[in-house]
Amino acid sequence: MSEQLERNLALDLVRVTEGAALAAARWMGRGNKNSADEAAVNAMRLLLGQINIDGTVVIGEGEKDDAPMLYNGERIGRAVQSTAPNDKSIQFVDIAVDPIDGTRLLSLGLPNALSVIAIADRGAMFAPGHLVYMDKIAVGPAGRGVIHIDASVAENLRALARAKNREVSDLIAVILDRPRNAQYVEAVRACGARLKLVTDGDVAAGVATALEGTGVDILFGIGGSPEGVITAAAIKCLGGDMQCKLWPRDDSERAYARQVGYDLNKTLVLDDLVAGDNVFFSATGITDGEMLRGVHYSGNGATTESFVMRSRSGTIRRIASSHRLEKLMRFSQVQYGN
Ligand code: FBP
Repeated sequence: MSEQLERNLALDLVRVTEGAALAAARWMGRGNKNSADEAAVNAMRLLLGQINIDGTVVIGEGEKDDAPMLYNGERIGRAVQSTAPNDKSIQFVDIAVDPIDGTRLLSLGLPNALSVIAIADRGAMFAPGHLVYMDKIAVGPAGRGVIHIDASVAENLRALARAKNREVSDLIAVILDRPRNAQYVEAVRACGARLKLVTDGDVAAGVATALEGTGVDILFGIGGSPEGVITAAAIKCLGGDMQCKLWPRDDSERAYARQVGYDLNKTLVLDDLVAGDNVFFSATGITDGEMLRGVHYSGNGATTESFVMRSRSGTIRRIASSHRLEKLMRFSQVQYGN
């Protein structure tokens, strides 16, 4: 008998990332990260609350930003208030949000700022607690099973080149440009592979490794832990591979990890980051990028472009939407105008 697919939550999620992107896009290049973030968070919070889920925010705005909304542990969704706890249509889920990945990119009007969200079954997502960074390696489907975070950069590049039937010098690695990643940069250069350094936004960079035509083959380096879990959700939908290790910044973070029982030597494989196969992901471009077009305005309208994915079916949709802002604002509390 064929498996039944439940409602595709990703199609609900795209309205959420579209709304957050539309609200944030007005802040492009205005040098005001906080207002941009506030606009995106407010929109995302409001629109998520309208979906018929009982969700817990596992990856929220919390740790770095001290956010009052979409914080870790917040319960959200229309079904949270449900008086029918046995209602089979309600999905109990974990939620990972990044209303803007690349807040700095947006505030400077630079490419690749995205609004992203992922959902998985309750208990499926890894919660990094106060540990804000992870060491990461991510690849697309061709590299599945051939990479390992404990292997050297050279070994990983050689293994990926073999799996892709290419030379190491053909591959492009992407790394977040930070002093803490200098060893990765040097190692990639020493191998003769090509390199793309990004100033921000390692969700877009990680997801790009698993998408055809982006020209990026592998992500190395230390970036945000929340972004690691969100990227893992997309990589799972795309059939790629990813491994991470928590990366404490100092002794106090090491002590915290010991105290709450995180094993800092443990390799977090894809299933540790996001377990199971009921994973939904949506990303909408805010500024133009290699993967997605950003928000564009014309009179009273705006266009958005999004990726919407579901791991169980493996379907990936690229959705181009056109929005009538004036109409939307008649029944939405989100501020889409100037
Ligand atoms: P925000 O837009 O949420 O600030 O994240 C941008 C980002 O570049 C992430 O993509 C990345 O994982 C993280 O910041 C890296 O952190 P840091 O800037 O502290 O090195």
